[in-house]
Amino acid sequence: MSTTALPLARYHLVSRWFHWALVALIALEYPLAWLMSDHRGVPEDALASWHVGVGTTILGLFLLRLLWRQVRTPPPHPPMPAWQARAAQATHGLLYAGFVLLPLLGWMAASARAWPVHVMGLIQLPALFPASTTWAGLLGDAHQAVAIGLLGLIGLHVVAALFHTYILRDGSLRRML
Ligand code: HEM
Ligand code: HEM
Repeated sequence: MSTTALPLARYHLVSRWFHWALVALIALEYPLAWLMSDHRGVPEDALASWHVGVGTTILGLFLLRLLWRQVRTPPPHPPMPAWQARAAQATHGLLYAGFVLLPLLGWMAASARAWPVHVMGLIQLPALFPASTTWAGLLGDAHQAVAIGLLGLIGLHVVAALFHTYILRDGSLRRML
């Protein structure tokens, strides 16, 4: 019987491209949110407009990434206890669901405060919600809460990826590089 190690099953190039492009956009999107001035006020400032444009791009890319995932299913994960495989699956599922829900909530909040919603200034999108001060506050709060929750989930995902790569040494990161 051969003792040769199995070749590392990597994600498809397109999947890797989606993953790292989205990481870069998300790394830009949070600081934009925190830096945009007086975001509870109307009208929006330039940074808020960037936040909207980058956020809708993130939504579009996540939807495309989900479609792509139906075409090209991920490679089998490295050998690991069943609970770890389930935890990874749950975290990935929540990340997908969260990054569709979060921009949608942002889109609704922006519509409620009558901000124009666009994709990088190139495509104008319709309002998802009628203008309303009460709803703007409620949807804005929901958007913020989900954004903070997802930040925690990203932290967990990164710690798990580093743990698998440097402690368990199962090549997790190389699957995505
Ligand atoms: C993944 C994408 C997104 C992330 C990570 C994100 C993150 C955030 C965060 C952290 C805040 C709170 C800022 C603070 O505490 O001062 C915020 C506020 C806001 N975002 Fe987003 N956002 C995203 C997408 C969007 C989109 C697509 C839109 C609109 C189309 C949007 C519209 C808004 C609005 C209107 C606020 C102000 C909410 C309020 O405080 O009432 N966001 N965003
Ligand atoms: C913005 C933050 C991030 C998001 C939203 C995110 C999201 C995801 C999602 C949804 C998957 C599952 C892919 C699939 O099966 O379709 C994944 C896989 C992966 N991510 Fe991330 N990720 C983020 C940041 C990072 C960072 C910073 C690292 C590196 C430290 C990383 C390392 C990995 C690795 C290694 C995998 C493959 C796991 C495996 O199946 O072995 N991710 N990521």
